[in-house]
Order: sequence, then C-alpha cells, then structure tokens
Amino acid sequence: TDHPQLYRDRPVVVGAGLAGLMTALSLAPEPVVLLSHAPLGAETSTGWAQGGLAASLADDDTPSLHLDDTLAAGAGLVDAAAARAILEAAPEAVRRLAALGVVFDRNGEGFQLGLEAAHGRRRIVHAHGDATGREIVRALAAAVRATPSIAVLEGVEARRLIVEDGAVAGIVCVGPNGEAMTIPTARVVLATGGIGGLFCDSTNPRGSQGQGLALAARAGALLANLEFVQFHPTALDTAARPMALVSEAVRGEGAVLIDETGERFLRHLPGAELAPRDEVARGIWQHLVAGHRVYLDARHQPGAGFARRFPGIDRLCRDAGFDPALQPLPVRPAQHYHMGGIAVDGQGRSSVAGLWACGEVACTGLHGANRLASNSLAEAAVCAAWVADSVGNAPATSRLLAGAPVAAKVADLRTGDAEQTRPILSRALGLVRDRAALEVAVAQLLPLATSARPAAGPALVGLMLAVSALNRQESRGAHWRADFPSSRSEAVPSLLSLDQTLAIA
Ligand code: SIN
Repeated sequence: TDHPQLYRDRPVVVGAGLAGLMTALSLAPEPVVLLSHAPLGAETSTGWAQGGLAASLADDDTPSLHLDDTLAAGAGLVDAAAARAILEAAPEAVRRLAALGVVFDRNGEGFQLGLEAAHGRRRIVHAHGDATGREIVRALAAAVRATPSIAVLEGVEARRLIVEDGAVAGIVCVGPNGEAMTIPTARVVLATGGIGGLFCDSTNPRGSQGQGLALAARAGALLANLEFVQFHPTALDTAARPMALVSEAVRGEGAVLIDETGERFLRHLPGAELAPRDEVARGIWQHLVAGHRVYLDARHQPGAGFARRFPGIDRLCRDAGFDPALQPLPVRPAQHYHMGGIAVDGQGRSSVAGLWACGEVACTGLHGANRLASNSLAEAAVCAAWVADSVGNAPATSRLLAGAPVAAKVADLRTGDAEQTRPILSRALGLVRDRAALEVAVAQLLPLATSARPAAGPALVGLMLAVSALNRQESRGAHWRADFPSSRSEAVPSLLSLDQTLAIA
C-alpha cells in the first residue's frame, strides 16, 4: 500500500467475492489491482452461498426455459434482453469456473443438479452438497494468488472515487493501519456485494453495507430499483446474528413449512413451499405476525439423508441444538439479497465514464423485482467476463496529475456507523412497508447521512433505499406496500441519483 504511483492507470477492482475475483482473473494478463477489505477469501457473501449457481445444463432444459422462470419470478421488471444474454452464457460460465479449479458435485461426466423454488427444472450446480460458495472462493482465490498480474491489496477499503470532467480519475483508499492513499486510475470496477449489514436480521456478512452504492452515488452514478430487497424465507430462528441460512434447496428436496400445530399453512399457494421467494417469505411473515410459530420440516424429506446431502446446514443446525432429520427447524425470513444496485448496461458500465459494477452491487435487469434463487452467482460469473472485456478496451490514462492534492485526510474519509442505520431500515424496509414508516425513516436518516460532508456511508445508502421505497406507490415482487397493495398495470424500473435523493428528502 506504500506505492500508489506504482499502480497508476491500472484498473482497480473493489471487492473480492465471485464478481471481483472473476473480473480480475478475466483481465489477466493485464495488470490489475484487487482491493479486498478482509484477508483474501474471507467475509464475502459468495463464500456463504449454499444452494449454488443456476444454469440450464440438464438435457431437458434450455436457456429459454430458464428465462421463462426468471421473468415469472421478477414480476414484470426483468429486462428480458439482458436476462436472455446472461442466462444463455451461464452454462459456459459454469464450465469456466470448473476449468479454473472449482470442484462441483458431479454426476458421472455431468454436474449434479439441484432444484430450488420457482425453477421449472433441476438446474442448480453445487459443491460439497451445500458449500458451493466456499468452494468457489477457495478455488478462485488460489487462482488469483497464482496470477502474477493481479496485485491483491488486503485490508484496504475504498472510500472515495475521484471524478474529473465526468469521468473516473482515481480512487482514495484506507489501508490496514488507517493510512490513506490515492491510486490515479481511469477505470474502477465496483464488486462490493450487498447491503445485509444494514439490517438487523440478515444472512449476509456484517461487513456488506452497500459501500459500492455509496461510492457510486457520490460519484454521480444512477442507481436502479433500490427498493427491491429480497428476504430469504428460511433463516434459522436463533439469537445468532448474522442468521444462519437453511437453503431453499432443502425445500427443493421435499422439506415443507409447518406451524406449531403441524399444519402446512402454505399448501394453498400455487407452487406451495416452492412458490417464488417473495410470496413464501410474505406467507411466513403473515403467519408469524398472526401469532404462529413456523418450522421447516425436513424429517420426512430429505429425512435420514439430510446430513449427506446438506452437510454444512446439518452442522449449522446441530450447533444451534437441532437435528434436521429428527426435529422441525424454527425459521423466519431474513434480509438476504439486494435486487437493486448501480444501473449498468450489458457491459457492466455505469452512467459515469470509467466506472463499472458487477455482482450484487450492480443492477443488470436480470432479477427484476424478485430474484430467482441461484441466479446471482450465475450473473456474477457471466458478467465479470463481460466487464473485463469492456475495461480492457476502455481509455486507461487518468486525468489526475502526479502529485495533485487530493482529499485524503483520513478524517474526511469516515463512512459512518451501520449501528444507527440498522434498526431504522429494519423497521421501515422490511417485508411490509407503508408511507408513514418510510417517512419516519427518511426523517431519521437524512441528518445521519448529511452529518458528514459530503453525505456518506450506511445512512446515505439507507436514505436512498427509503426514498426509492417511498416513490414506488405499488406492490410488486419483493416491494410490498400495505398502503398500495396492488401492482400498477405498467412495470417501470426506478432510477435515482444522490442529488435527486437529497432534493426529495
Ligand atoms: C439458498 O441456498 O437458498 C440461497 C440461494 C439463493 O439465495 O440464491
């Protein structure tokens, strides 16, 4: 971290989950800087992914069928052209990951394929049964370490983008000892993941706090569909935070949802327990609010085979005192994924020249209002290669002069504290929203977001989410407004800038 000039004009990739690792690998042999806020391979959402990657690999499957399921789950907001392109490329991306050393579960020559909610075919590629993300991160981090063109900076956080004449000119970072440094570069890829760390009950690493959204918004980029936050139906309901996930693949193998009386209370929903995730999560939520307790019952299916098929989840449950083969598991919905993000085109380009986004922090249009399970890892793997192509062909010379003074006083680079934001977002931006609660959230978040100048950090991201949710006066997919319970006839994506947010708030 002592020689930022050494890295001058190299592309900088921020974030080291699947999206960041694959972007850096795909850029090789072009020299690239990869920022990982934690030791490489640690504390990424990818590493915690259980279910796997969705790709139409089965003999009875096609990208078109995969697209149909994606469109149906996305409640009118999926960008069909973007989704088609991504889903057509997903099988090849799986093979590319395998070639890079990811050991997926095999079925002879082919891949073992799991089933998850709202997928009409078995198409979930997995590793070690339910440790897909851990295996992906292990293999790709090893591949990155073995690639001399990738300079990995561990313990380094991006804090500001420098924009000159509307284009990225540099990035200001803070290193492991709190030291600030500026890398002059005309190309930055944000691959910072999601926002679960801004919610009390989430299945994400606590460090996922929408850092990329804040960086992009401050740089002037447009953010899209921020109001669409996905809640996973079945987080294990214990006191542990973040919450342990019980993969949807467990329901795919036949587990059902029951309440304290043993009643399968979602059996009337079309698709029952395998209905789209937003519907299952809301169904559970309503049952909990009505005073019931909710359990995932895997005693009959997968039953005695549970530990073999889902060794990691079996361990998580046993650590919490439950044997999934013998006891129903207490579950509740928890924040899990952010459909919204930095608005990007088919090459991952944001509205600011020199700024790309990839993975959960981006909004490609694939997920619409409700992501289909396991489409996110597929998206990250596919889009990383496209982003790398685009970055490789873009102008490389930063307009930042050597030695130019930059705002790199560490005190100016504070980001604020997620502690204050969490309860506000959890109250107002949960599974069911309404105008009154959202207005309270905006009033509470505005002073927190603007106490730093210019506005920054978790409160700023929270504020933009709350304003987006307030603006969308309908219910659609994961965004449910108690005061606007129906969907408008036309599905319209939302776009928001920081300036618009501050004007509205
Ligand atoms: C799961 O394993 O249920 C999570 C899959 C996903 O969120 O895509």
